[in-house]
Order: sequence, then structure tokens, then C-alpha cells
Amino acid sequence: MDRIKNLKLKKILSEYSFILNDSEYKSELIDLNRPEFLSTVSKVVEESGLKSKNDDIDLEKKSLEKKVKDSELSKSSKSSLKKMFRNIVKVTHPDKTGNEDFLDIYTMAKEAYDSNDFLLICSISNNLNLEVIVEDHDLDLILKLMNDKKKEIETLEKSWMWVWLNASSEEEKNTIVNSYCNLNFSDNSQNDIEDTLNKIYSISPHQKEYINATEFDNRSDAVYGESTRESVDAIVEFFKDHFNGSTVFYDLGCGLGKMVAHIGLKYSPKKSIGVELSAERIKAANFIKSEYSIPDNVDYINDSFLNVDLSDATVVYCDNTMYDDSLTLKLYNSIPIGCLFICRRKILKLKELTSKSDSSFITTYNKKNINYIIKK
Ligand SMILES: C[S@@+](CC[C@H](N)C(=O)[O-])C[C@H]1O[C@@H](n2cnc3c(N)ncnc32)[C@H](O)[C@@H]1O
Repeated sequence: MDRIKNLKLKKILSEYSFILNDSEYKSELIDLNRPEFLSTVSKVVEESGLKSKNDDIDLEKKSLEKKVKDSELSKSSKSSLKKMFRNIVKVTHPDKTGNEDFLDIYTMAKEAYDSNDFLLICSISNNLNLEVIVEDHDLDLILKLMNDKKKEIETLEKSWMWVWLNASSEEEKNTIVNSYCNLNFSDNSQNDIEDTLNKIYSISPHQKEYINATEFDNRSDAVYGESTRESVDAIVEFFKDHFNGSTVFYDLGCGLGKMVAHIGLKYSPKKSIGVELSAERIKAANFIKSEYSIPDNVDYINDSFLNVDLSDATVVYCDNTMYDDSLTLKLYNSIPIGCLFICRRKILKLKELTSKSDSSFITTYNKKNINYIIKK
């Protein structure tokens, strides 16, 4: 490796060492506070006589899979990995050192070796002043592992435990525990929720008082169609990492607000907000809210979505089938960084949108695709 590549490797390893510290710090904090979180959950569960819905509840998803598949490691990378691991064993294994001073490092290196974590083995070697054996072609693998580690931290930061730990008040902590309990435990109220959803979805948008009579600048913007109940569940399932007790969900152009009520009731986000210009459709949304005791995390705003402050949004859905591209782009520009944006129609000016078509995403007018992006 030439000097520049050596410097690049040095830079990567020091960045990785920072990321590793961050990940260790957050995992440790979570481990330390898990008993308190679980005992608070137990109290709520006992007091309300709830039962678990899942046998195995994961507070934060941990992956036990290999970091790199055997088939993805070249022969020479395998051999470098083995050489570095052997060198680590020589200076850390109790049989070689005669003590257990470096047992933790040995255990970490063994796990890294078994899961083909080339980058962690490089990092441990570097910290122990051992040779870091990296060929030019290993750099891509190293960068991939670095990215994976960053994503692991992102997942950790979205976990119930982390959101709960970082809540700004006791009240917010309680809301998170309650949301967690609602999602993972039931008092048979799950059946009640499904019954309520049946009723909500059977309400017709063509009922006299809900037929739109509000003026729109552009007539096509007032056209109506709905997400089906099945599609709302499928969309939440597809983006499940984005739905938890700290989610602030917006449906821009929410119509009768079925999706908003559904998400607010069944998935217990912090807020589920519908924005709708048509006064007649908002009337239906508010009727649904009061008639079916939809919780207070659900709210409706009767205004143009262009006038609404979306700075607290974490997930924004917009059925933009009938809107022109510039309107969708305006909406995208008004959401905060990190927010997940889901729409129905791909627009040319947002090339980074990912499209996904699946029959479970179907609308009442047979549209099966969604497009999405996390705002950068
Ligand atoms: C296709 S419907 C979507 C219904 C709902 N989002 C769903 O998926 O079930 C689109 C809705 O957007 C509303 N809309 C159109 N332009 C709007 C605007 N500028 N502000 C707020 N709502 C608007 C329309 O009145 C219509 O009810």
C-alpha cells in the first residue's frame, strides 16, 4: 500500500474507533437502564391486566448474522483476517499470556473473526500495535462494514429503550412506556381495535354530508380515493423502524382521516395528524374521532397542507397521485431532515425516491405502488 492509502486506512480506523466508542457507550447505557424500563413496563402490564402479544419482544434489534458472508470474502481477505486474528490470539489469549488481562479483547476478536468482521479485526490489531493487513481490494469491504456499523447505531437510536432514555420529561417517558405496552401487550382490546377499524373503513366518502363542496385552486386536487385498511397496515409494517412512541405522523390531504385514525389507534405514535383542505371531509374525520373514541394523539387540521408547520414530522405520507410535481416538491422541501417521506406518484425532480410496488399497498383506486425517501 502506498503512503496515501496508508493514511486513508489510518483515517478510517480512527473514525471507526470513534464510532465503536459511540456504539459501546449507547449499548452500555441501554443495558444499564433496561431493568428500570422493564420494571416500569411490568407495573403498567400488571396494573392493567395486559397479556403479551409476542413471545419474544425485542427492545432493540440485534443481529446475530455474520457481518460478511463467507462467499463475499476473497481468498486473500480470508487469509489476512486469519493472520491478524492469530496475531491477536498470541497477545490476548490467557493460555498465551498466562493471565486474563486481555480476555475481553480476545473474546471480542473471536466474535469478530467468527462473523468475518474484517474491520473490527483491523481495529483491534491497530489498537494492539499489531500489523494491520489490508490490501487495496479490502478497502471497499472496510467501508461497507463501517456503514453497517453506522446503521447499527441508527437502529439503536430508534429503539424503544433509547427513545425512552432520552425522553425530556417523566410525562414523555410514561407516554413511551404506554405506547410500548399498547403495541406489545393486549387486554383483548386488539379485537376492539380491529372492530373499530372495520366500522371506520365502512364509512363511505360519498355520503351526502362528506361530499366535497370546498373550492380548490386546482380542481384535480380535490379528487378523492383512499388507502385501504390493508395498505395502511402494510405500509406501517414495511417502515416499522419508523413507527414507535416518538413518531409524529402526518397524512397530507387526509380525506376522511381513516389512515390517520388507524395509525393513531393501532400503532400508538406520539402524534398522528391529518391535514385536509375540504371542510366536508374534515367533518367526517372529526365525526370518526368522536364516534369511535379515537385517542388524543390523533388530530386534524382543516387547512391547506402548504400552510402547515411540519417541523416536528418524522413520517409524512401524501397521496400525490393528482398533484403536479412542483406541489409534491414543495411539500418535500417543507419537511425536516431525517423525516421519512412517502408518496404515491414518482416525480421527476426527486430522482432519489425509491419505488416499491406490492399488491398489499393497494388503494381503493387500485394503485399498488409507493415511493419513499428519507429527507437528507
Ligand atoms: C387521494 S385523497 C387521499 C386520502 C387519504 N390520504 C388516504 O390515503 O386515504 C387526497 C386528499 O387531499 C386533499 N387535498 C388536496 N389538496 C390539498 C391541500 N392543498 N391541502 C390539504 N388537502 C388537500 C383532497 O381534498 C383529498 O381529500
